[in-house]
Amino acid sequence: MSVVKTISALNQSKPWDSHNQKLICSMVLQDSHDVKTFCFQTTDQAWFLYLPGQFITLELEIDGKVVHGTYTISSSPSRPLSITITVKATKDGYVSKWLHENMKEGMEVKAYGPAGIFTLHNHLADKYLFLAGGVGITPLMSMTRWLFDYGMHTDVSFIQSCQTPSDLLFKRELEGMSARVSDFKLSYICERPDEYGAWTGYTGRLNQLMLELICPDYMEREIFCCGPEPYMQAVRDILNSAGYDMDRYHEESFSAPVASEEEAPEHDDVIIDESNKATVSFIKSDKEVKIQESETILAAAKEAGLHIPNACQFGVCGTCKVKKVSGDVHMVHNGGINDADIEAGYILACCSNPLGPVEVEF
Ligand code: FES
Repeated sequence: MSVVKTISALNQSKPWDSHNQKLICSMVLQDSHDVKTFCFQTTDQAWFLYLPGQFITLELEIDGKVVHGTYTISSSPSRPLSITITVKATKDGYVSKWLHENMKEGMEVKAYGPAGIFTLHNHLADKYLFLAGGVGITPLMSMTRWLFDYGMHTDVSFIQSCQTPSDLLFKRELEGMSARVSDFKLSYICERPDEYGAWTGYTGRLNQLMLELICPDYMEREIFCCGPEPYMQAVRDILNSAGYDMDRYHEESFSAPVASEEEAPEHDDVIIDESNKATVSFIKSDKEVKIQESETILAAAKEAGLHIPNACQFGVCGTCKVKKVSGDVHMVHNGGINDADIEAGYILACCSNPLGPVEVEF
């Protein structure tokens, strides 16, 4: 599409449908030997609205089964015409492996989201330290691209850790930004050099001494960290032993959904009575089931033979968002739904218990 047509389409278009958006793969880029970036556009010229650091869930059909995979968005919302996810192919990553082997330009997928609370918009500061371990760089890349595009003079120290220099991601782009913006400082730490390559940078794993040498004022910075759990644990240990104020430390983790108490949504004190039963009605599907109040709306749907798309099942990814038509639920989520959606009557089926009869639009 020409630039003029794109801009006029953008003028008339609306943001993407965060609950059911069809995407088309527009490009696949090889970032390293085992990491690829997948670029998507919407099929209806809607533009992408999300916060840098958030993630989406893709729905794919693999071997005749519907599967979901949740991926952090690596692009920035400052470029709203397309979205990118950057994915590492791992032996155990069923969906990731499939994406690497099968996703091609022109293929369509369904997406849910965005969701997630790991974003600098929730923690605005003058100085940041971004700590990226391996492909955990993706949300930090989104935030960095956002800050760069937005043209704000924000002091960022960005430390990327990986196994070898050839595993470094977005190197040229980051170096380009660092060369142009004086308060964007970039550093790398590699566990070992490449077999036949020279490496003169920091070698080993991030430790207290390295952190002090690379970023002497880290105690003054708001810290965002994403990477494998052992990497984040090492970072937490370093910061704790230095007496860093952990309220200013934020990490992205799909296994430990709530990064800090402050980020946890407020929970009320509802105690679910195990013996109470509630009727859950699914209006569009014309189905009704009775479940215990200690079970979730997602479980009710399953019992009714319905499939509400879901991925994480602990209130993080937002995939299972459905509209409640009537009744009360007790929802304890982990950031997978925002206040505006709750206000509009949406709930996350995987972490909502019915309190009495509930009607759901699904
Ligand atoms: S399945 Fe992820 S929030 Fe419900």
